[in-house]
Amino acid sequence: MEKSSLPVSAEDEKRIETLIEQMTVDEKVGQLNQVGPSPVGGFEISLKEKKLRLKEGKITKEEFERDLQGVQWDTRESDVRNGKIGSFLGMRGVEKCNHMQRIAIEESRLGIPLFFGLDVVHGLRTIFPIPLAESCSFDEALFEETAKIAAKEAAASGIKLTFAPMIDVCRDARWGRIAEGAGEDTYLTSRFAAAKVRGFQGDDIAKSDRIAACAKHFVAYGAAIGGRDYNSADMSLQTLWETYLPPFKAATDAGVATFMTSFNDLNGEPCTTSKYLLKDILRNQWRFNGAVISDSGAIGELIEHGTVTDKAEAAEQALNAGIDVDMSSMCYTENLKKSVLSGRIPEAVLNEAVRRVLRLKFALGLFDHPYTDESSGKKMYLCKEHTQLAREAGRKSIVLLKNDGILPLKSNLKIAAVGELAAIRKEMLGTWAAMGKGDEAVSLLDGLKERSISVSYEECCTVNGTFDSSALERAVKDADVVIAAVGEYADMSGEASSLCHIGLHGEQEKMLSALKESGKPFVTVMFNGRPLAVPKAVELSNALIEAWHLGSQAGNSICDILFGDYNPSGRLTTTFPNHSGECPIYYNHVSTGRPTSEIRHTCKYMDAPLTPLFPFGYGLSYTEYAYKDFCIEQDGKNLHAEVTVRNTGKVAGEETVQLYAHVRKAGRVRPIRELKGFCKVFLKAGEEKRVSITVDRSAFQYYDTQMNLVEAQGTVDFFIGHDSTASLKAVLELGENNP
Ligand code: NOJ
Repeated sequence: MEKSSLPVSAEDEKRIETLIEQMTVDEKVGQLNQVGPSPVGGFEISLKEKKLRLKEGKITKEEFERDLQGVQWDTRESDVRNGKIGSFLGMRGVEKCNHMQRIAIEESRLGIPLFFGLDVVHGLRTIFPIPLAESCSFDEALFEETAKIAAKEAAASGIKLTFAPMIDVCRDARWGRIAEGAGEDTYLTSRFAAAKVRGFQGDDIAKSDRIAACAKHFVAYGAAIGGRDYNSADMSLQTLWETYLPPFKAATDAGVATFMTSFNDLNGEPCTTSKYLLKDILRNQWRFNGAVISDSGAIGELIEHGTVTDKAEAAEQALNAGIDVDMSSMCYTENLKKSVLSGRIPEAVLNEAVRRVLRLKFALGLFDHPYTDESSGKKMYLCKEHTQLAREAGRKSIVLLKNDGILPLKSNLKIAAVGELAAIRKEMLGTWAAMGKGDEAVSLLDGLKERSISVSYEECCTVNGTFDSSALERAVKDADVVIAAVGEYADMSGEASSLCHIGLHGEQEKMLSALKESGKPFVTVMFNGRPLAVPKAVELSNALIEAWHLGSQAGNSICDILFGDYNPSGRLTTTFPNHSGECPIYYNHVSTGRPTSEIRHTCKYMDAPLTPLFPFGYGLSYTEYAYKDFCIEQDGKNLHAEVTVRNTGKVAGEETVQLYAHVRKAGRVRPIRELKGFCKVFLKAGEEKRVSITVDRSAFQYYDTQMNLVEAQGTVDFFIGHDSTASLKAVLELGENNP
């Protein structure tokens, strides 16, 4: 069932119209202006960055000097007072938010409240696993719950809009922002999108513990060519519709309140000004009635894109295309009044954008409750309930990639921890840590100490520095087992963090080789925000744990896995390549005429294995599961799959049952297999259960060569099991789609 994005009562609609009648053009434009606490836009930036901006002509000398004089607060306060600002991004601290709100309410002519937006991507102060990690739990209830708690903490700090969920499908791990989304699969990302929207928004964003969500980045940002951030995306319309748009449709259907456009151009048109995306698809076909926000500075960047000559034209194009809020570029503020007064933009177009912003403010309840209780956040940040959830989310997100039997560890062993990431708390938080504080996170070392494990620590190797072999010798001398922490710093993924080498940096691999030579058994724990090409680490280590950036409780979650308090259940939501050069790599690629095989003239690299390092869906546990009696049948509009799953090992565990399908023949090439459903089943040792998965017949629609949406017909191979290489098969002749 579709939900309205901004449900506003008829009475409030009237209040909106009355306000619009009272507003001057300046005040209207002000409502569309979103700025950061710093006048250079977005967040405070370093002096070095400011100098670079000056050097490259991005800011003028006057702007540069004004920034240095630190006049930010005065500038912003008088602008709020004069109705020139409608909302803020990046404002941190409830007192600051209330202070600015008071000026808007009490000192501006019409007393229209502000709203405050922040990138609460995986928690506000209690930080949960980065989304890529959390997606590995395949757990919708968890996706929803962590968003709910993030919303609660955010709302308590004055934030009523999060720039999340990020639902860009990403098939190229060189792109640093892969960390912010749910991986490479469209179906999983769609379920993630809807769950996050439900979690942030609940059933009413006006409630004091709920906030508005923002589906971003619309669209195809995850397909940035070469994985280089901000790069163009170029793709067929079929790929756009089948792979990149569905998560946004799912967010719309879940009632997401806002959308954010993406920086990139798509097939030559900047998404910021795409009427095709914003009008034809979003407003007309999907009936989205929420507010659309540009990405930061993106309207001004149209000049660099070369599709406008100046900021005035940029503002006109963006408003005409359907961008309601200008994030940080100031193009609207500086130009829209002139455009309206000269008649180049009808005032009705401006009014429509203002109407949506006011609707958002009414839907958020800000006209009735503009202020936030300043004491509530302090009581709830990192409270027991929230940290417990962070720990739970962390352990469900961890993926066990290799285990020769060394895990789980006994807690009476003497452990040596090596590698700086074992000890640096702030690196656990990952990208976009909102108001998370590094020193409040639990490092791996903290986690070990908390359990009173006998542990010694030597740094031995930094992430990108050199390896100290004598420190390693010292560290391992008396140890029974070594834990090697390797991977990436938090800022090596996320925005503007693309890499062309996605293996271990510096001399981390050298450290692992030295460990192997030492003869001590060792467990490698990887901290990273993207899949890493680490075949050597796999080969050398006795066990390999993918710990991602797990947030506030990282160290405790990892220890729960290390010592067997929790049986690992996470599954990869991105394919792990053997080499960086295999990117882009993803499991659901379409069939070629020469499928990958040993035969020379087939689709493959000559110098890489035929299969990835780890496939989509992969993940080990401390038990094993066996599948049997798989059947699938169609009943009108639905397909029902059933299978028996048995825990054949000695410990209880949770299995993620994954259902894949391949359409044998169609008018256009189809994926070799695609995830169509999944479910989680908890099984005690020796227990077996019959599980069922229902798939909507419409899951087999695709776009033909002429972009008609057609139903796949004929024979479909279904596979069910533990990961995307599952071989238990059932075949079904697809019937008509009878509702
Ligand atoms: C730029 C990023 O692309 C976007 O995701 C984020 O929400 C805004 N900056 C605001 O921080």
